[in-house]
Amino acid sequence: MAFSKASVRDATVKGRRVLVRVDFNVPLKDGEVVDDTRIRAALPTLELLRERGAALVLASHLGRPGGEVKPELSLAPVGRRLSELLGVPVTQAPKVIGAEVDLAAGCLGPGEVLLLENTRFEPGETKNDPMLAGSLASLAQVYVNDAFGAAHRAHASTEGVARHLPGYAGLLLEREVTELSKVVEDPARPLVVVLGGAKVSDKVGVIDRFLEVADQILIGGAMCFSFFKAQGKEIGNSLYDEESVVAAREALAKAAASDCALTLPVDLVLGREFSAETERQELDGIEVPDGWMGLDVGPRTGALYAEAVAGAGTVLWNGPMGAFEMEPFAAGTRAVADAVAAAPGKTVVGGGDSVAAMVQFGLEEKVDWLSTGGGASLELLEGKKLPGVEALIDAKPTDREES
Ligand code: 3PG
Repeated sequence: MAFSKASVRDATVKGRRVLVRVDFNVPLKDGEVVDDTRIRAALPTLELLRERGAALVLASHLGRPGGEVKPELSLAPVGRRLSELLGVPVTQAPKVIGAEVDLAAGCLGPGEVLLLENTRFEPGETKNDPMLAGSLASLAQVYVNDAFGAAHRAHASTEGVARHLPGYAGLLLEREVTELSKVVEDPARPLVVVLGGAKVSDKVGVIDRFLEVADQILIGGAMCFSFFKAQGKEIGNSLYDEESVVAAREALAKAAASDCALTLPVDLVLGREFSAETERQELDGIEVPDGWMGLDVGPRTGALYAEAVAGAGTVLWNGPMGAFEMEPFAAGTRAVADAVAAAPGKTVVGGGDSVAAMVQFGLEEKVDWLSTGGGASLELLEGKKLPGVEALIDAKPTDREES
């Protein structure tokens, strides 16, 4: 699918203030950014705008402060990291909107950067309050949305503001939509999808869609126990939830009637409890004894999944195979990560945890497309429209600026 929205490349921005919505929702520890992937991912758009003589007003959320000012969720550490990456000062606004912010925005010269405070400090943000959207819009003449990770949210800074200003897609947002759409719309075959994580119920839409378009879905992570439970197997103390068991039962029925193979683990790694220090055993099979819980897929499953990934024309991986943050239970996720990194086909990894796994194993450079979106990438893959994308203006060739 050709991307149908106007690109930031087509916007006339010289000498104008541009409000750029970015997704700087990054992990912090002790007041410092611990993973700056999302900040780096926004740099091409910010650099393009600066080169073209725009003044930048940046807006992002961070965490879920619930419409209140929570100092620990201030964007100040993000502003410091951004300044290092851009190599220019980044002025930190004390608030999201208000007289001081108007003044700071009004003083910006071409190429200068102002970072607003966490948009979710304003109660109107998640309510998509038109007043807040209007105030944000009044800070600039052009709007650019590069916050792919938040594009599934119809919030004031992602959707509402585009009703007041001409809205263009940032380079990251455009690339994300293009890469992820290609996986479902025009994949090189076979299309192999590896799904993990805890809840089937979170991924029902994606499973449904891929049962229609993929050749094989490989299930791992805690979600496999909802499938095993639905099949009447013993799962011991493994994690599952009723809603996911219902969803798994439906998915199994749909899979039986579809051309797509739905593959479940054939062996497991068990622990007594959810801890790196717990007693551990490998189980060749899937009937979990009492007093044990499944914390990873076993070596045979890892090898089978790796083989499927190696033979794929396109691989999409979303969700870890086990509790990979604990060394004794990381092997299944590692096997999939290694296979994805080495796969000759096109590889796309989405979702915070599988991206974190690629980074933990130092394999992030070996993937064709590493999505910055969690929920947004799932919704796009499901075929849902993303409000943050829909609100942007449609591409018009006449918008193109000579520069
Ligand atoms: C994400 O991390 O997936 C995005 O930044 C969206 O965050 P949210 O789920 O809090 O809206």
